[in-house]
Amino acid sequence: MIVHFKMDYPKKNLIKKMEDKEMKKRFVFIFVLIALAVVLVGCGSSTPAEPTPHPGQALVETKCSTCHGLPQVNNAKYTRGTWESTVDRMVMAGMQIPDDQKALIIDYLAIRDENK
Ligand code: HEC
Repeated sequence: MIVHFKMDYPKKNLIKKMEDKEMKKRFVFIFVLIALAVVLVGCGSSTPAEPTPHPGQALVETKCSTCHGLPQVNNAKYTRGTWESTVDRMVMAGMQIPDDQKALIIDYLAIRDENK
């Protein structure tokens, strides 16, 4: 019995030490994760906000893709005046759109093509 205890005690101690080490490793790991999360959240809030899209953009995507595809609209590069007459032609082709939305679409396309 005595011999058994003598053999057993240091062994148990060793396992306990190893467990302590594992716990410490785990704490360090969790700490690093938290620190990383804090840094990432900090970076996220400091990145400049995306510029707000022109309200006409969403209208073009929904209103101008029903009869033909959007490429028809995106491949064109017109002046404001040509867009006015083109959109009027689309209205004559059967497009139904309130005047304020029409103005937004023309404005968006004119600005887009100025920078094309
Ligand atoms: C009611 C159906 C309809 C809708 C909605 C429509 N179009 Fe058209 N579109 C046409 C037809 C038909 C043609 C081909 C005949 C023509 O060119 O007039 C055309 C052709 C075009 C062309 C190529 C010809 C050209 O004149 O350059 C462009 C650009 C265009 N459409 C832009 C638009 C835009 C921008 C919108 C949204 C504001 C729109 N379309 C919505 C029917 C439509």
